[in-house]
Formats: sequence, structure tokens, C-alpha cells
Amino acid sequence: MKILSFESTCDETAVAIVEDGRKIITNQVFSQADLHAVYGGVVPEIASRSHVEAITLLTEKAFADANLKKEDIDAIAVSYAPGLIGAVLVGVNFAKSAAYALNIPLIPVHHIRGHIAANYLAYPELEPPFLCLAISGGNTLLVNVKDYTEMEILGSTRDDAAGECFDKTARVLGLPYPGGKPIDDLSQGGDSKKYTFPQSHIADNPYDFSFSGLKTSVINLVHNSKDGIDRASLAASFTKSVSDALTSRALLAIKNTEIKKLVIAGGVAANSMIRKDFENLANENGIELFIPPLKLCGDNAAMIGAQGYFEYLSGNFADISLNAYATMDINGSFNA
Ligand code: KG4
Repeated sequence: MKILSFESTCDETAVAIVEDGRKIITNQVFSQADLHAVYGGVVPEIASRSHVEAITLLTEKAFADANLKKEDIDAIAVSYAPGLIGAVLVGVNFAKSAAYALNIPLIPVHHIRGHIAANYLAYPELEPPFLCLAISGGNTLLVNVKDYTEMEILGSTRDDAAGECFDKTARVLGLPYPGGKPIDDLSQGGDSKKYTFPQSHIADNPYDFSFSGLKTSVINLVHNSKDGIDRASLAASFTKSVSDALTSRALLAIKNTEIKKLVIAGGVAANSMIRKDFENLANENGIELFIPPLKLCGDNAAMIGAQGYFEYLSGNFADISLNAYATMDINGSFNA
């Protein structure tokens, strides 16, 4: 079954065609990062306009790359929440029009479910149940993935997402947006033990995260430093602190649930220190670890097509009244 899928929740316009949830036929991504870099973060109005400009051309490019016709498509999947509302609406409206014109099913896909499903594309043998840590620019979630469309949220961030914390720290250091990769590069020559930052502990849910204290601590260190900062070591120490917060929660969940299969998802999963720390954690504790290749960590539409297939099998369809939502948790609740 071939699914044409769309992703436009933030600053990537993406169109893909995926077969049976596991095979990428084409995966086209247009990143707007350069448009927003000058402002130091995503400007929602610019994001929406850029999606409108790119989505038709990108869809044509996807069909040309796949060497397929529109009649070859069996269903349409679209990322409909959460995200910048104007941006999400572009993908949702385009997908609704396409499904209506082609008279084929429309499948709404939660963006984070898509990030998790990126792993089904990278690892054809991967099947639920497993634990998943989804770490992106807008979300930080620890999820018990009981089945392809049945998920229990164990923990989430109380304030900033992990990626947001990377972006804000990069800004303080004068690095470009998005800041995750520049911090990763800068940290390579640094000493991760040089600076010590606070670790958050949430009393009523040990699986929850909080990154705002870490962010403030970095800002204060930079602003109050009299003899200059060792920037590489600051980047490395900051990353280590994020990584410790992530690995400790994941290990606790593995011990408590006795699920020894761990999946990492989202843009921050591209971080080299975090990848290495999870590999060590897996080796030391006999955990089966799945981390997507770099090109499937960030936002893309192939992951939406992959999850779309499993939503289709579960009978999760939408009609022409489908709306876009800025906030929604992974199970469709609006209390997120
Ligand atoms: O998953 P994603 O592309 O978008 C969302 O769904 O939010 O994640 C984007 C986030 C940004 O905050 C970016 O700085 C971060 O992923 N990121 C990284 C790295 N590459 C991207 N963070 C740390 N290290 C990286 N190498």
C-alpha cells in the first residue's frame, strides 16, 4: 500500500511516499532554517508562507522522483498536531484537497507518533512493545509504546523541550539557529566535566523532565563569567547534563517496566554525545537499542507515512472536516 504523506508542523516542508509503513519510495524535505536564522528562531508567519510556496512544487518533485502517478497512491497521511498552527494548517489543507480530489482515505497522524515511526523505516524488524524517548525541538516524552497505535505517556517535560534548550543555549553562545548541531560540533573539543550544572528531580513523577533550570544556569554562567568561558567545554558540559537527564529517566523506566527494548526519536537524537551515551547504557544493561540514522531524526514526511500505515490498519481515518491543532498529546488529548 502506497501512502503519500505531508509534514509542515514547524520549519520543514516535507512530502514523501512510503510503502506498507516500512519502505521509503521518496522523501523530499525543504528546510526553511535559513529563512529563520537571521531572527534566531522560527517566525510562525514566515513558516506558514514558506510552506504555501513549497508544498505544491515539493509534491511534484516527490512524484517525479518516485516515478509514480497520482493514481498509484492508495491513501494520504498528514501531520495534524502539534505544531505552529498556521504551519500545520498548510499541510492539513493540502492533504485534505489531495484526498478529496483523488477520492482516497485521509489519515491524521500525530507528529510525535511520526517521529517514533521513523524507526520502523530504519529497522524493518522493529515491532512494539518498546519504550521510546522522543526528544525534539518542541517535545520531550518518555512513552510506553504498547502497540503501533496504543501508547502510554510515562513522562514529559514540565517546561522547555530538550531541543529548545539546545537552541536557547546556542543563542547565548552566539551560535546560529537551530543550535543543536552547532553545539554538537563545538562540544567535540571540550571537556564535559569542566562545568557542573543542576539536575532536576520532579518529586511527583520521576519520569518527568525539566530543562529550564539548566538553561538559566548556562545563561548565568556566561553572563557572570569574568575571565572568559571555555566555550567548547561549556557546550560539552551542557550536553552531558541533558544526556544524563535523558539516560537516567530511560534507565529508571526500563528497570520499572522490565521492557528492555529502547527506541530514541526526534531531532535531538542526532546528537553525537547523546547517541554514544545511549549506546553505552544499552551495552552495560543488556538493552536492545534503536536510534534512527541522522536523516530520519529531524522532521520529515516519510515518518508520517510510516505511522500513517499503522493508523490506517487501526481504522483511524479523518474526513474533510479534519482540523489542525497547535497542542495535543500523543493520545489525542488536548490537555498537553
Ligand atoms: O525533530 P525536530 O527536527 O523538530 C521538531 O519536531 O521539533 O527537532 C529539531 C530540534 C532542534 O531543537 C535542533 O536544535 C535539535 O533538534 N537538533 C539537535 C541536533 N540536531 C538537531 N540537538 C542536539 N544535537 C544535534 N546534533
